[in-house]
Amino acid sequence: MTVHAHITGWGKFVPPCVVTNDDLAQMVDTSDGWIRTRTGIAERRIAADGETTSYMSLQAARQALEVAGLSPSQLDLIIVATVTPDHAFPATACLVQDGLGATRAAAFDLSAGCTGFIYGLSVAADLVASGAYENALVIGAETLSRIVDWSDRATCVLFGDGAGAIVLQANGANGGVLSTVLGSDGSGCELLCLPAGGSKEPASQRTLDEGLHYLKMEGRQVFRFAARAMPTATRQVLERAGLTLSDLKLVIPHQANQRIIEASTRSLGLPAEVVYSNLERYGNTSAASIPIALCEAVDEGRVEQDDLIVCVGFGAGLTWGAAAIRWSMPLPPELPSPWERVLRQLRYRYASLRSLVRRFVRWLFALGVKE
Ligand code: ACO
Repeated sequence: MTVHAHITGWGKFVPPCVVTNDDLAQMVDTSDGWIRTRTGIAERRIAADGETTSYMSLQAARQALEVAGLSPSQLDLIIVATVTPDHAFPATACLVQDGLGATRAAAFDLSAGCTGFIYGLSVAADLVASGAYENALVIGAETLSRIVDWSDRATCVLFGDGAGAIVLQANGANGGVLSTVLGSDGSGCELLCLPAGGSKEPASQRTLDEGLHYLKMEGRQVFRFAARAMPTATRQVLERAGLTLSDLKLVIPHQANQRIIEASTRSLGLPAEVVYSNLERYGNTSAASIPIALCEAVDEGRVEQDDLIVCVGFGAGLTWGAAAIRWSMPLPPELPSPWERVLRQLRYRYASLRSLVRRFVRWLFALGVKE
């Protein structure tokens, strides 16, 4: 029997703290007018202390599992797409695995800039469709506010924090992820990067003094690349699925700049209402932008069962990618009863306890070894 990877759960988390363009105008030489006309952004969410990439991932993941009606112990795979992991290692996905109590899951992070979620979706969908795994969780999550130079007006106005997650499940029914397209061009690696903190430029007083631990971007060049990559990837992914632009119900593009979204929409000859945008409220949340937008599009009733949607993105690397999805879940989803909710909360408490006990036993064992 042919198996397909279906999206059966979705969830998002954005930090409560809202930073408006006027707030930024108090910090750097900019204005609400400049930011709105050049980018389409009005405000963004900024993570507080403690709202780390793993924390936000966990909140989004719990929602997605609830919608899917799946328990964490049924997960086979967790992928976190991010350029702002909690640590260089261990993987943020392992912290999520521990927080969820997903005792059977393999877990790893994936770095493909803002295209990370599409890369994660593609890898997970292929693993599910191959029969290797049954249930996978794909998360896009970022705390970009931690790597943004808050004195650089050319970049600090663009980014925001948040997380989005989906559950993919194996099913013999037609639909789900129909096709994906992934691409890269490392010759553009300097256009968007975090210069220091890796093996090429380990963190030092000099890298700190020179601000090399902040995100750097050649905005105009990225803009030109993006305006070409998004329409091309959209056409390619539809062609691969044997479909055309006229079959499309909704495009969910990476939310980087409204002018890039509009240029891509024009280039594809699509009406504006077919292309989803929530950039105004969140700014560019990198790998989190597509799953957050997907959740909001579903919640706003922009997606119905059997609709064809395309998620398409571009980002650091340079990378680009797209996924064509036949939405197979009935909407609105059936949510758990209050009793099931209580049970879920207990399961998460148990996961925290289990993690504490494992740490304690490890500590005891280490003590014994020393003596
Ligand atoms: N407020 C006021 N003026 C500003 C600001 C600001 N926040 N930022 C730049 N300016 C000024 C510049 O100094 C420049 O002034 P000058 O003409 O006197 O030199 C002028 O505005 C124009 O600057 P440009 O950089 O040419 O402005 P542009 O129209 O290209 O817009 C922007 C800049 C918004 C960054 C645009 O290039 C863009 O969106 N690029 C794509 C970025 C992107 O998508 N990044 C995400 C990639 S995904 C990932 O992996 C993270």
